[in-house]
Amino acid sequence: MQTNRWDLQTEQPNKQVIEEAAHLLKSGQTVAFPTETVYGLGADATSATAVSGVFQAKGRPEDNPLIAHVATKEQLSRLVTELPAIAEKLIDEFTPGPLTLVLPSNGACAKNVTAGLSTIGVRIPSHPIAQQLLKTCDIPIAAPSANISGKPSPTTADHVWSDLNGKIAGLIDGGPTGVGVESTVIDCTQQIPVILRPGGVTKEQLEQVAGTVMTDPALANKSGQPKAPGMKYTHYAPEVPMWLVAGSAEDIQVVIDTERIQQKRVGVMASTETAGKLQANRVIPLGTSLEEVAAGLYDALREFKNGDVDLILCETFPSTNIGQAIMNRLEKAATAYIKD
Ligand code: TXA
Ligand code: MG
Repeated sequence: MQTNRWDLQTEQPNKQVIEEAAHLLKSGQTVAFPTETVYGLGADATSATAVSGVFQAKGRPEDNPLIAHVATKEQLSRLVTELPAIAEKLIDEFTPGPLTLVLPSNGACAKNVTAGLSTIGVRIPSHPIAQQLLKTCDIPIAAPSANISGKPSPTTADHVWSDLNGKIAGLIDGGPTGVGVESTVIDCTQQIPVILRPGGVTKEQLEQVAGTVMTDPALANKSGQPKAPGMKYTHYAPEVPMWLVAGSAEDIQVVIDTERIQQKRVGVMASTETAGKLQANRVIPLGTSLEEVAAGLYDALREFKNGDVDLILCETFPSTNIGQAIMNRLEKAATAYIKD
């Protein structure tokens, strides 16, 4: 399949491009587009055939449900049997934005979107291109991250291109995405909302609006079945093994030196401050704030290529605010976790 690429390279939508992309989506094709978190691979959520094109292009297991994307709260309410008061509060406060709500599905979307579950994940993205595209389509768009399943999510159009060129009908290049990690998935079907996947809206922010918010215990102790089916799969894996290393720059340098004596080429990713103190075969500074680290995380994971380095070492970060999402992704990407 020929992939049509529109190089806007800016967040601002272009009317003709949006119309062409919307036309492809409405005729059952797959189109990748930027959101404020990561690039998504979209398809008409009301068509099982269109949605199966997404699973095929990504090589995604069919028991992993997709998020339905819409432009407005009104469109969202057409996909669910009810909008509990707490969900409405979260929608009003945090959307359009990086939050996905799990709610009881009314069956308006095709069955393969929800992987047969009675609930559906719904999200109103804030990215101007995503907003305009969803408004123009005026149908719910099922959109997982636009990467090959198991790889780091794409935060640039080039990431999407290297994974999916030739497998999808279109790609809108809107430049790098801002948040860099995916939306927070929050289950609003119970009395107390439960975070199934930490993401762009932090637990601290959610608690300010919703009071008590829980986190799916399966995320912390790694036993038990996570409630977001996608969280059980290997994810975000770079091309070479990655070890998470807790401790100071000195501690990390000891591990680097030990591995290099054994002829391993070692790549490191760390905060800019720590990176400045380290010597390895390649060092990628991730930024000075947790927000910057989140924004650059997946690009860094993709930067380390097989053949350039044999091992990646990554610093750990505090699990507060967006750090919760960062550490969740790093722990899933890592093949080992070195704590003193
Ligand atoms: O930021 C994002 O959310 C991006 C952009 C493109 O919007 N999308 C994204 O989709 O990350 P995906 O498919 O890569 O991840 C969706 C996650 C998976 O872990 C999936 O299992 C979970 O949400 N999920 C979807 N529907 C669900 C449901 N009904 N119940 C529980 N978990 C659900
Ligand atoms: Mg994904």
